Amino acid sequence: MTKLSKTIELSNGVEIPRVGFGVWKIDNEKVSGVVQTAIKAGYRHVDTARAYKNEEGVGKGIKKSGLDRKKMFVTTKLAVQDFSRPEEEFERSLEKLKMDYVDLYLLHWPFIGWKNAWKELEKIYKEGKARSIGVSNFNIKQLEEIKRMGGMKPMVNQVEISPFINRKELVAYCQTEGIVVEAYSPLTRGKRLGDKVINDLAKEYRKTAAQIMIRWGLQHDLVMLPKSETEEHIKSNIEVFDFEIKAADMKKLDSLNENYSALFPGWSRK
Ligand SMILES: NC(=O)c1ccc[n+]([C@@H]2O[C@H](COP(=O)([O-])OP(=O)(O)OC[C@H]3O[C@@H](n4cnc5c(N)ncnc54)[C@H](OP(=O)(O)O)[C@@H]3O)[C@@H](O)[C@H]2O)c1
Repeated sequence: MTKLSKTIELSNGVEIPRVGFGVWKIDNEKVSGVVQTAIKAGYRHVDTARAYKNEEGVGKGIKKSGLDRKKMFVTTKLAVQDFSRPEEEFERSLEKLKMDYVDLYLLHWPFIGWKNAWKELEKIYKEGKARSIGVSNFNIKQLEEIKRMGGMKPMVNQVEISPFINRKELVAYCQTEGIVVEAYSPLTRGKRLGDKVINDLAKEYRKTAAQIMIRWGLQHDLVMLPKSETEEHIKSNIEVFDFEIKAADMKKLDSLNENYSALFPGWSRK
């Protein structure tokens, strides 16, 4: 079995845990307890955003867990409506989290004003308040535009990826450019967990369908960001380092691609 390290190194040397805990749609009141459960289960990476309105609860959960802040990798994102005032909104995020830095700060979507916002993120990075910076939902064309701007390259691009939308070309581009790809909605928001190919493999490997999907992404060198509010799922979703999907089965999973977006099912090309 090829042993996978628990972290990947970003282009600036910062280590990012390969499995992160997604908290979108988890209520601010509830998220503190859920984050504590996740930390207990072994997660050392949490993915939130201004737009999720739960940074405060996430910060509380980390604090209450008793874990040293430095041992946790915390990501938050600048919301599109705040692209005209990144510095101010970044400070507001820190205040909500009750932290003096984040590990990764992302532009949430490539909306109007993103170029200027990116320059501001570079400043935040240079001031040492974000250990790394990146983008989310960017395509190759937009990443090329950043390159032409001549400043910093994003360390991360967070996009929707699952076996049903594998974004092979974008992943290859990012990996060649030294940009780590994070997979969001890696469990298709629960919508395709019943797929037959995945469940047959789950039986064969004595794993859950979710574990097969997460491990598939890890073997493609993606950072996987599953979300869960259910203790049993939280625990099992990170138990993905003790098995390996064989090359032939990886191909089977790769062939499930149909550019299906669980986030925008209407946009899917099925
Ligand atoms: N940058 C962006 O624009 C963007 C967009 C979307 C998401 N994200 C990030 O990515 C994270 C994950 O994506 P997501 O929240 O859209 O969805 P997801 O992780 O693909 O799926 C979550 C769903 O799967 C269920 N689930 C989780 N583990 C399971 C298991 N072992 N067995 C059965 N069901 C299971 C969850 O239910 P339970 O809670 O009951 O387990 C929930 O309904 C988000 O939380 C967020 O941090 C980022």
